[in-house]
Amino acid sequence: MLKNSSLFSRHKAILPKWSPIYYEEPIAFERAEGRRVWDENGAEYLDLFGGILTTMTSYNEPSVIEAIRDQAGKVIHSSTLYLIESQIELAEKIAELSGIDDAKVFFVNSGSEANDAALMMATAYRRSNQVLAMRHSYHGRSFATVPVTGHATWSPSALTPFIVNYIHGSYRYRSPFRHLSDADYIAACVDDLVNIIRVATSGDVACLIAEPMLGVGGFAYGPDGLFGALKNRMDENGILFISDEVQTGWGRTGDHFWGYEAHGIKPDIITFAKGVGNGLPMGGVIARAEIMDCFKSLSISTFGGNPLVARGALANLDVLLKKDLQKNALERGRELMEGLNALAGRYKYIGEVRGKGLALALEIVDDRASRKPDPGRTAALLEASKTNGLLIGKGGFYGNVVRLAPPMSITPDEVKEALQKLETTFAAV
Ligand SMILES: Cc1ncc(COP(=O)(O)O)c(C=O)c1O
Repeated sequence: MLKNSSLFSRHKAILPKWSPIYYEEPIAFERAEGRRVWDENGAEYLDLFGGILTTMTSYNEPSVIEAIRDQAGKVIHSSTLYLIESQIELAEKIAELSGIDDAKVFFVNSGSEANDAALMMATAYRRSNQVLAMRHSYHGRSFATVPVTGHATWSPSALTPFIVNYIHGSYRYRSPFRHLSDADYIAACVDDLVNIIRVATSGDVACLIAEPMLGVGGFAYGPDGLFGALKNRMDENGILFISDEVQTGWGRTGDHFWGYEAHGIKPDIITFAKGVGNGLPMGGVIARAEIMDCFKSLSISTFGGNPLVARGALANLDVLLKKDLQKNALERGRELMEGLNALAGRYKYIGEVRGKGLALALEIVDDRASRKPDPGRTAALLEASKTNGLLIGKGGFYGNVVRLAPPMSITPDEVKEALQKLETTFAAV
């Protein structure tokens, strides 16, 4: 029996059934290098998903490994009760990169925690329990982030610590406004926002939380400038804008370092996680000092930005900036997109090719005219690509979107290899 089969039985017996796992015969990573992983049975895969966009530079980035080794030999943990030089240095760097004036940074351990903290901050600052979110969004698994997740598949509970209303805009392919020009689409979304504020709130809403490009929702997005127009309207009511950059941050979208930059405004709060730690659990909130410091009580995160994680993240960020991986995301993303468009020319069940930089998606449908989602074929594409030695991701409101988001250091040769493997995969399904 293959080693992974017995692992899967043990997994099912002891881990929760609501935490999904890829493939009919799931795999375990035994080792990894660059953009490649090997499973326990020795099979090799080119990885286009990076553990959900989290292996950002590469699997065995030497300086990151060295920083972790060095720090582990000195002190792994001290807690936020003590000064942590690497945490302070990382906060200084992230604040500078954020584009937010007079920024402060609070470190936590995940994207859910980052959004949780940001929502608590915004509602405390505004002294309001009313929150807006985007339809089809995903912001995490915690008690405060599930209520702002506009995606029933990922909403195990309807209980909520605040009143939430959802607005249109992020999923243009199936939007009632999809036939409109960019400018009219944006105007329709702003109208929707104004109506929601008037109809469903008392006006003094705390914040809108939004992903500049949906992650789990299938790399879908509205026109550039959408969040600028929404924020300009929200500013009239003092409503804060939280940009959830958990998937779109650190240059992944190619054109910009943060997803919000496509919209011509600065957010009041940014949340981040995933790629910055390259697999080390790190997330955080960036906010103007007056917002960050609004709590009247004390609050801590025991592990948040601890010495080990902060050293690793510092080294990782250094690699990202020195190697200009944002530029690589832009260039390799264009090559990948070109290949995906060519595929879409041959397979009419690819309803749409979309994405930015190295966050690209294929929406899988019955056919282009009906737009009917085809999650069955999407699952088959995942299985077939695994057989062809390629790891890809899945997402979308209907589970019918193939997502490609490799480590940002992917090379031109690897892009070619990935496209060849995709070609074989699509031909087989
Ligand atoms: C945009 C976004 N926000 C928040 C989260 C939650 O992050 P975590 O799983 O680290 O809690 C995710 C996770 O996929 C995400 O994609």
